[in-house]
Amino acid sequence: MGESAAAAKLSRPSRASLAFDPGEVRQQFPIFRAPRPKPLAYLDSAATSQKPDPVLEAMARYYAEYNANIHRGIYDIAERATAAYEDARRRVAHLVGASSPREIVFTRNSTEALNLVAHAWGRRFLEVGDAIVLTEMEHHSNLVPWQLLAQEKQVELRFIPVTGSGELALETLPELLADGRAKLVSVVHISNVLGTVNPIAEIARTVHAAGALLAVDASQSVPHCPVDVKQLDCDFMAFTSHKMLGPTGIGALYGRRRLLEAMPPFLGGGEMIREVKLTESKWNDLPWKFEAGTMPIAEAIGLGAAVDYLEGLGMAEVFAHDRALAGYAMERLAEVPDLVMLGPPADRRGGVVAFTLGEIHPHDVATVLDDEGVCIRAGHHCAMPLHAKLGVPASARASFHCYSLEEEVDTLVRGLHRARKVFAR
Ligand code: ALA
Repeated sequence: MGESAAAAKLSRPSRASLAFDPGEVRQQFPIFRAPRPKPLAYLDSAATSQKPDPVLEAMARYYAEYNANIHRGIYDIAERATAAYEDARRRVAHLVGASSPREIVFTRNSTEALNLVAHAWGRRFLEVGDAIVLTEMEHHSNLVPWQLLAQEKQVELRFIPVTGSGELALETLPELLADGRAKLVSVVHISNVLGTVNPIAEIARTVHAAGALLAVDASQSVPHCPVDVKQLDCDFMAFTSHKMLGPTGIGALYGRRRLLEAMPPFLGGGEMIREVKLTESKWNDLPWKFEAGTMPIAEAIGLGAAVDYLEGLGMAEVFAHDRALAGYAMERLAEVPDLVMLGPPADRRGGVVAFTLGEIHPHDVATVLDDEGVCIRAGHHCAMPLHAKLGVPASARASFHCYSLEEEVDTLVRGLHRARKVFAR
């Protein structure tokens, strides 16, 4: 049976009452229409999402119809390319509730956005003896840039602990900020391992009362749920296109305008300057001050189309779908003997469920599942300190997006029963 017929057969309403049918949504993604021996059960959307037709078409149209560099040419197709690129920035700004598109800097991904803050803000504004507060549930991209900065500037790193239920021990935060040395707190919004949804607005109140700034790693939230930087009251926020139905190679940093204005550039080169002399230069306005060299133009246009697509579904509906599916997955996974789920109950998490299966290594679990057409991630998910804290070297992880179906979870569960048989002693 081809995937197209299989997907149609799989299509039935999710448990959530939704404004969209995930089975119909799925039909707009070429990867699910491609014929294959077994239907694809793609349960690795936290690693990267699949791409719908409108995103691929928008990128192909740019290359086929108006491929030209941006902000440089004064001919028609160059002006069209510039307009499309800046229009994508406006869409992204609207999606996250930024006051102005000038507060959106395009980067390569979330990692680069967080590195931008560490380099440009951290190097300029931190002094020896200052502190940065992180959490034990961070992805490596929200740990390593700060470690590099801490070594260079002799800055202390402090950590909000993770509880046994996989949530932040937020009662420790006032104490971590009490001596006034912490200048910035950087926290993940939704954990890529535990699915935990952290209360960012509440954290912002505590952080700002102590006179510090708040950066948010929104890699797993902006793609899946309504996010408004004004409601969250964060100072910086990083997110990436490839997890939100857009292409790889582009992400964004939101920053409050006065903070971005005060920061020196991150990378030097063409476009980020207003005037260059042999030994000194003047910087361009925001946001271009931070966009050196030719940017990923097709990718920005693809991201703009992805934002349109997601807003067409409704971010609240996407989140309702993801969470309902995570809840269903947790019910079904509880049937598998020796399976231990990591993280909080379904009502306090997004569309991510990580687990261990007895003594079977998660890589072996993933290999057996691959035979069934099931794609999951196995390993430490770029969160080694979190796994160390939880006392497991690695885990298997299923994660969802708007095209994910209950039937894929059923295939996962069948595969896990098979893995137990394969590895039975
Ligand atoms: N950060 C991505 C993940 O969690 C790659 O899989």
